[in-house]
Amino acid sequence: MLKEFSIQKEDLILPLFISDNCSDKESIDSMPEVFRWSINSLINQMETWLDIGINTFALFPCIKSEKKCNLGNEILDPESICYKAAKKIKEKFSNVTLIADLALDPFTDHGHDGVLDQFDKVDNDRTIEILRKAALIAAKSGFDIVAPSDMMDGRVGEIRKTLDQDGFHKIAILAYSAKFCSSYYGPFRDAISSSQNKPIDKSGYQLDPANFREAMLEIKLDEQEGADILMVKPAEPYLDVIKSAKETSSLPIAAYQVSGEYSRIWAASKLGWLDLDKCAHESLLSIKRAGADMILTYFAERIAKLI
Ligand code: PBG
Repeated sequence: MLKEFSIQKEDLILPLFISDNCSDKESIDSMPEVFRWSINSLINQMETWLDIGINTFALFPCIKSEKKCNLGNEILDPESICYKAAKKIKEKFSNVTLIADLALDPFTDHGHDGVLDQFDKVDNDRTIEILRKAALIAAKSGFDIVAPSDMMDGRVGEIRKTLDQDGFHKIAILAYSAKFCSSYYGPFRDAISSSQNKPIDKSGYQLDPANFREAMLEIKLDEQEGADILMVKPAEPYLDVIKSAKETSSLPIAAYQVSGEYSRIWAASKLGWLDLDKCAHESLLSIKRAGADMILTYFAERIAKLI
């Protein structure tokens, strides 16, 4: 009765990695209990997640390195793994919400979220052109929500316009609005093989972790451009940003507890230094308390079973 906040299953969104390079499921060294799934193994697993009360999923592709190129062309192939997976999931299950990640990094050989100009810097406007087309393919494949995670300027407005022109008014945009240039993305880059063991500097388009006011500006711009949900990422190191986003916007606020936040709790628990379930729950509770209405977390299954 006196508890002010609690984690509900409906708050949780499970990010999933889908691979076109494995026959069943494949573990990821830096992310215990997280897998790269083949489409068939994913379809078989889906029932288990729905049974425990998780029905919203964010899909990320992991494609063969031969298919990657400097333009990330595969993102515009309607037969690419995540589009195919969405079609199959929607054919089999009616009560599932699917979020498409819109960004080029799983598809480019250099691992950046956009195409590069002659100075090897990400070309904002050419990248948006590609994301607009990818948003339509995602909508046609059955995704309910598109989530631009690229941090190009002005992409939310352009994607909204494109979707509306093609009659996809009901497809929502979950904008990665305040996405920081964080060192907590390392395990994710292993999962989608985007870093190929070399560091990638995304500071040209992701936010400086030192900048709070700039984060609030990005949030305001995405709201003005027509986003339906605003996201802060990573989550726990940026609770101040989540709290302010909740106070200043009327839109729902999402937070992404990213791979490094997940793996650090796991690593400490493997050393016997922290209690895995208790720390996972406490970290999610702090994100909720700061103001997140929904949380993308690799702990979704574990916590849903626990509560
Ligand atoms: C990039 C993207 C990243 C994540 C989701 N989409 C990482 C990056 O910017 O390199 C990270 C998620 C995580 O660490 O769990 N489009």
